[in-house]
Amino acid sequence: MNFELKLFIPTAATQEKCDASVVFVTNSFKAGKDALSVLVAKALKSGDLLTKAGQILDIYRPPVFLTTRVVLVHIGDGTTTDIRKGVAAVYSVVKAARVRHLVISLFLQPAPQALRVLVTALADASYTYTTTKSDKQGRLLEKIAIAVPDEKPLAECFRRAAAVVSGIELAKEWGNRPANFATPTHLAAGAKALSKFARIKVDVLGPKDVAKLGMGAFEAVAKGADEPLRFIVLKYAGSAKEKAPVVLVGKGITFDSGGISIKPAAEMDEMKFDMCGAASVLGVFRVLAELQPDINVVGVIASCENLLSGRSVKPGDVVTSMSGQTIEVLNTDAEGRLVLCDALTYVERFKPAVVLDIATLTGACVIALGGVRSGCFTSDEQLSEALLSAGESAQDLCWSMPLDDEYADGLKTSFADVANVAGRAGGAITAAKFLQRFTSKYRWAHLDIAGTAWKSGAAKGATGRPVGLLMDYLLNQGVKGGVA
Ligand code: BES
Ligand code: MN
Ligand code: ZN
Repeated sequence: MNFELKLFIPTAATQEKCDASVVFVTNSFKAGKDALSVLVAKALKSGDLLTKAGQILDIYRPPVFLTTRVVLVHIGDGTTTDIRKGVAAVYSVVKAARVRHLVISLFLQPAPQALRVLVTALADASYTYTTTKSDKQGRLLEKIAIAVPDEKPLAECFRRAAAVVSGIELAKEWGNRPANFATPTHLAAGAKALSKFARIKVDVLGPKDVAKLGMGAFEAVAKGADEPLRFIVLKYAGSAKEKAPVVLVGKGITFDSGGISIKPAAEMDEMKFDMCGAASVLGVFRVLAELQPDINVVGVIASCENLLSGRSVKPGDVVTSMSGQTIEVLNTDAEGRLVLCDALTYVERFKPAVVLDIATLTGACVIALGGVRSGCFTSDEQLSEALLSAGESAQDLCWSMPLDDEYADGLKTSFADVANVAGRAGGAITAAKFLQRFTSKYRWAHLDIAGTAWKSGAAKGATGRPVGLLMDYLLNQGVKGGVA
């Protein structure tokens, strides 16, 4: 999607050459003498445009206007929720009218946060997946120009918002692709493709490299499948070599059948989304490519399929992780933590400022927090605050979850150093406690995105979360000069 920010001149608004000119009207609208103001004032006075967020008035070929249609949309007081309602209403018209070139005019200067919500919501509403459809017609909307009373102070915020959209859309694309179009090898190729951008380097390790590193936990998950595993390392060097990087670790299970501890058939197709953590890492790198901020970031993706065969890891098998800790695999469906624990050990070599792992880790997190907030697990208070506030500012929310040591009691076993599952109670937390055992060398937080990475039901599809949250967190590092 091509976004453009430009100056809004009320008297010139009738001369826009576009398929539809959308005008956002708030409660504080004051009419001027220009034709557009007069039109809006009339619509309000007559009650044809109701003063409630999401109300629209679709006008076809109004006199003096060059554009085919002018759509007035009320956004109440202009809060972020109001803006989203307005966008949803506008998009239904824009879609039905097959609009390609849209101009959105705002009479009042928006706050940076409002502009950002507008851009993100427009992109979200118009996103269309086509990769595995025979009809390759993607979104019809090609260009959206947003006209504001003073564009200069908003330029930087706008650039950021548009870049984050490209990252969110890359994450959606990978999340949505079916598992036969998004194997670990495909994912690695997708990562490699990002190395065409400045400051980005990508290395891909295969089964032999992973064996040499001693990643017995990761290998155990991968060995039931015919598709070979891939361990992907992306580096974005935007600052001096000495500056410790933020490391992002993504769970990249391209399909999770559960393995020998097989999942029920209903909705098993949704387990193609089990690589959304990895997709969010790719999305972040896409944004870094665009914005070129002066920070160092490493992205690591542990990717494989979790399938059943005569070679699959079995319940009760004990494997040795890269850290040396032995793990009893009591449930082969708790595979995410097995691939992540080796990745978490691997990243010690980067002497990270912070490590964040992002994973569709537990159904229990979906039960706890639903689709609104991701689970955020860390015993580092400063980091917790930084992530929570990044979630707020990016409108990509997370919620702080506990990590008391007592939660780890259930992971005890007589046959290895640790078991990969505890009981059903507190499942999202016991999973995080398992991961925590591998993170003693650095500051760490775990984001469980099982509930937020995709939507089920009629609107089934990847959300691109938490690219927004991660980008706000990363870019705040640049501003403050240190890592919070
Ligand atoms: N990928 C799943 C988690 C998941 C489940 C995400 C449902 C989204 C929706 C993960 O690998 C898994 O299977 N976790 C198990 C853990 C259990 C065996 C301890 C789960 O949550 O059921
Ligand atoms: Mn699983
Ligand atoms: Zn999984």
